[in-house]
Amino acid sequence: MKAGVGLLSALTLFLLLGAVLTQRPRAKKPTRRPATTRKPFVPRPPGPAQPEPQEPTDFPPPILGPPSMYPDCPRECLCSPSYPNSLNCENRNIRVIPVIPFRTHYLYLQNNYISELTAEPFQNATEVRWINLANNRIHQIHKQVFEKIPALLYLYAQRNQLKEVPSGLPASLEQLRLGRNRISKIPSNAFSKMGNLTLLDLYHNQLSDNGLGQNSFKDLKSLMQLNLAHNALKKMPAGVPNGLIQLFLDKNSIDDIPKDYFKDFNHLAFVRLNRNQLSDKGLPKNVFNISTLLDLQLSHNQLASVPHFNSHLEHLHLDHNSIESINGTLICPYSIDAVMNDHNLVPSLRYLRLDGNHLSPPIPVDVIMCFRQLHSIVI
Ligand SMILES: *[C@@H]1O[C@H](CO)[C@@H](O)[C@H](O)[C@H]1NC(C)=O
Ligand SMILES: *[C@@H]1O[C@H](CO)[C@@H](O)[C@H](O)[C@H]1NC(C)=O
Ligand SMILES: *[C@@H]1O[C@H](CO)[C@@H](O)[C@H](O)[C@H]1NC(C)=O
Ligand SMILES: *[C@@H]1O[C@H](CO)[C@@H](O)[C@H](O)[C@H]1NC(C)=O
Repeated sequence: MKAGVGLLSALTLFLLLGAVLTQRPRAKKPTRRPATTRKPFVPRPPGPAQPEPQEPTDFPPPILGPPSMYPDCPRECLCSPSYPNSLNCENRNIRVIPVIPFRTHYLYLQNNYISELTAEPFQNATEVRWINLANNRIHQIHKQVFEKIPALLYLYAQRNQLKEVPSGLPASLEQLRLGRNRISKIPSNAFSKMGNLTLLDLYHNQLSDNGLGQNSFKDLKSLMQLNLAHNALKKMPAGVPNGLIQLFLDKNSIDDIPKDYFKDFNHLAFVRLNRNQLSDKGLPKNVFNISTLLDLQLSHNQLASVPHFNSHLEHLHLDHNSIESINGTLICPYSIDAVMNDHNLVPSLRYLRLDGNHLSPPIPVDVIMCFRQLHSIVI
């Protein structure tokens, strides 16, 4: 019993040292200038050589680069001898994609005024591996484009005006970024045969439960990261591939998770459901008791109690919910006695956020006794 008392006072000390309230992490907010003020107007050199744009337009004229040693280098682009496979056409006020030279593997077209992708410029661009089209005005990508570039690996088209996932995407694709568009629909075969896709980012679109088919994601056998945050989902997406490592669903209206939703996932490590409508009622007790899970974020929901989680979980965000009390004995993945007696059973939880609930310090002793790896806890 004496040993027990010694241990208890050691723990009290830990409680004093370890449970010092830590600072809240600052929310990271990407600062982006609005598109209209993105680029300063660059005056053209005086002289009659430059024709005025044909139609009235609010777009500044394309910025031309210096003459290139490559005769096939489009005037709007830069072709560097050090990177013969890169074509740099970003930030050039381009509206029409120039003819892409055969040697191009990496194509940079971000931050322009492109509104449409047609096949013609890609006639000879069969070696393109990587296209960055971010921050343009693209509302349509003709599917014939992809017939010209069968080895495409990365397609970045975030911050455009697409209303649908482009069709005819090549089976070779590994990363697809379509965040910040106006996509409300995924055609049922949009991702068929795309067995090599590892990253799919559909963040900040207009996807609703109806816009996602039952089988939309079915063929994505290699998918590791799926971002559907900031859409209009009310239900968990169906048919999500179970090899997923990262699933982001923040800022939707999800109020319920089916009991066995995560049952067949064997690698899932990061789950974010911040800013949804989850309450205890829609959250089966054991739904997040997933042994591979490392990071679980459930901030800004309506939870009144702490869900069960596995002893391997390292980060848990439960801030801004309706939690009134926390009972370490209940949420400890093992009995507190077992954790005290066997070092191997100490849960991995290191970071716990509980601020913005109806809780006040001190942190209950049984929480400290169970979660002995806890480095910081925010109440
Ligand atoms: C296409 O690329 C090949 C190989 O570099 C070249 O010989 C040919 O002239 C190119 N054709 C066009 C239309 O650019
Ligand atoms: C998918 O990746 C594998 C391995 O890198 C490769 O052999 C295969 O050709 C790829 N599939 C397609 C359709 O590109
Ligand atoms: C959580 O899952 C583990 C298996 O990974 C199981 O042993 C444990 O009983 C589960 N916890 C609860 C509270 O059901
Ligand atoms: C915590 O839960 C356990 C098990 O249900 C219970 O015996 C104990 O009284 C609870 N502790 C508090 C402080 O409510």
